[in-house]
Amino acid sequence: MKYHTFSNGDQMPLLGLGTWKSTDQIAYDTVKEALRIGYKHFDCAARYENEKPIGKALKDRIANGSINRKDLWITSKLWNNAHQPERVEPALKQTLNDLRLDYLDLYLIHWPVAFKPEVNFPSTGSDLVSLDDVSIQDTWQALEVCVRQGLCKHLGVSNFSIKKMKGIQAHCSITPEVNQIEAHPLLQQQDLLDFCQQEGILVTAYSPLGSSDRPVRLIKAQDPVLLEQSEVIEIAHNLNLTPAQLLLAWAVNRKTAVIPKSSNPGRLKENLAAADIELSSETMDSIKRLDRHFRYVDGSIWTLPGSPYTIQNLWDE
Ligand SMILES: NC(=O)c1ccc[n+]([C@@H]2O[C@H](COP(=O)([O-])OP(=O)(O)OC[C@H]3O[C@@H](n4cnc5c(N)ncnc54)[C@H](OP(=O)(O)O)[C@@H]3O)[C@@H](O)[C@H]2O)c1
Repeated sequence: MKYHTFSNGDQMPLLGLGTWKSTDQIAYDTVKEALRIGYKHFDCAARYENEKPIGKALKDRIANGSINRKDLWITSKLWNNAHQPERVEPALKQTLNDLRLDYLDLYLIHWPVAFKPEVNFPSTGSDLVSLDDVSIQDTWQALEVCVRQGLCKHLGVSNFSIKKMKGIQAHCSITPEVNQIEAHPLLQQQDLLDFCQQEGILVTAYSPLGSSDRPVRLIKAQDPVLLEQSEVIEIAHNLNLTPAQLLLAWAVNRKTAVIPKSSNPGRLKENLAAADIELSSETMDSIKRLDRHFRYVDGSIWTLPGSPYTIQNLWDE
């Protein structure tokens, strides 16, 4: 396994397990199995509504002595209805309680999008609040207090543009160390990756396999199926890899972390093995040509009529 080393020496395994859409008993069984076969990095979020079964799986493995807490890397995310500064620490404490942990390794702002506190998921534009009213800088300051209290070790963001990252950097005392973004051959985000790498910010690639089990509200008629792209299949076949392994190895070879989701024991193993595969520069170049700036998670769910968010002001593109 390759690792990213943070400036304080902490190390994050570059391949972790995504947990979105794993529910209840499946989330419990999957995390237990993943721990058994050697996964050490888990990507969680309050919004995934499965932190309780994940926490039970972590606790059971830690209690039976098969893993030490200090050898794990646990990430979670602040949901959009808890950006208000006074809601940040309670949200993190709820996550810690659900995950049965004393601290998180990494806590991310899930989206640069705020909701009214009572809204779990918006059904009208008026459920969303502008970042002019609940500023990212104020949310960030509340997160910095959580680091000082020892509730989390590192802070980061998710779905943030270069412009929005610079907005935090200009005002923070604890710098963002990770930006978790959608990234795969059809959405390479090279400019954002270059910016983050220059600034010493780790990029974590989400939906690296094309998120084929994403909710129907995120599926559009002509969406490409990443794992079925003929170039991906052909390159993988020539290297004696599965298409999923090629995609994951590509992510690690471009020095991003990557968090594929699976709840299938065979695919969990297949995906973990991909972290150690070296790809040649020729292979990396052929994959570079597949970029078409296509998002599976395009943020249009936050652009309901009357919402302060638009596709343009969300991605700054
Ligand atoms: N920050 C954010 O806003 C954000 C957004 C999206 C995702 N994420 C994070 O990123 C993680 C990964 O993204 P994702 O869940 O959207 O999708 P993904 O990892 O790209 O794809 C998951 C899908 O691929 C299948 N799969 C897994 N391994 C496979 C393999 N070896 N061969 C073929 N199919 C395979 C899974 O099925 P099985 O389970 O049946 O194997 C599932 O249907 C999430 O779980 C979450 O932790 C974060």
